[in-house]
Amino acid sequence: MPEDDGPGRERTGQAEAFDAIGDRYDEAFPHKEGQLAAGEWLASSLPAGSRVLDLGCGTGVPTARQLTDAGLRVTGVDLSAGMLERARANVPAAEFIRADIAGLGDGGPLTAGSFAGATAFFALLMLPRAEIPGTLRSVHALLAPGGLLALSMVEADVDNVPIPFLGNIIRVSGYLRDDLRRVVTDAGFEVVKEDSYAYAPASVEVPPEEQVFLYCRRA
Ligand SMILES: C[S@@+](CC[C@H](N)C(=O)[O-])C[C@H]1O[C@@H](n2cnc3c(N)ncnc32)[C@H](O)[C@@H]1O
Repeated sequence: MPEDDGPGRERTGQAEAFDAIGDRYDEAFPHKEGQLAAGEWLASSLPAGSRVLDLGCGTGVPTARQLTDAGLRVTGVDLSAGMLERARANVPAAEFIRADIAGLGDGGPLTAGSFAGATAFFALLMLPRAEIPGTLRSVHALLAPGGLLALSMVEADVDNVPIPFLGNIIRVSGYLRDDLRRVVTDAGFEVVKEDSYAYAPASVEVPPEEQVFLYCRRA
């Protein structure tokens, strides 16, 4: 797996922050109804044994575990070695690779057209906006025709801003929901359903947020 972030990509501190955050991420975000519902949509829409990509998989909980338990073959991708260590322990039946989700296009570690579905829960928000459309196009190419994508973002009109997060500084991006829908459809997806949730994390270190979930199909 490339340890290098790749040309033009600035990742300093992002993986290190999540190495340090570790299990506190799951403790700060204990209620994941929206994420579980979107995972359930994916699991119930795909035949058992289908290959599914979990982008920015974190600790593997709840999503890689939920999809594996549903009989799907999961490949989790994350940049943080610490999160991957937890994911491998939490979900031994899944495969995990250390890679930058913005580096999954041509020449990347995964084969085009080889996945029936993908999730990107609070993962694209870790990229500068300039890299999000290209990353979505790479996910489009990794999916077989008709493949499904479930994604979530925090609704916010920001680009690569540093924020304090569980004792660390991370950089995040977001969109207002109409703009998010446009970015996703411009990358070749049809949005088949949209949900949103007002979310109050179980930590005073993270402010309340509005979470948007898009259920998408490769057009
Ligand atoms: C906010 S957490 C979301 C974790 C999980 N998807 C969930 O919702 O429970 C973001 C995850 O993305 C990972 N990450 C950040 N930047 C990344 C990148 N460029 N490529 C791959 N993973 C990245 C972090 O290490 C972290 O595990």
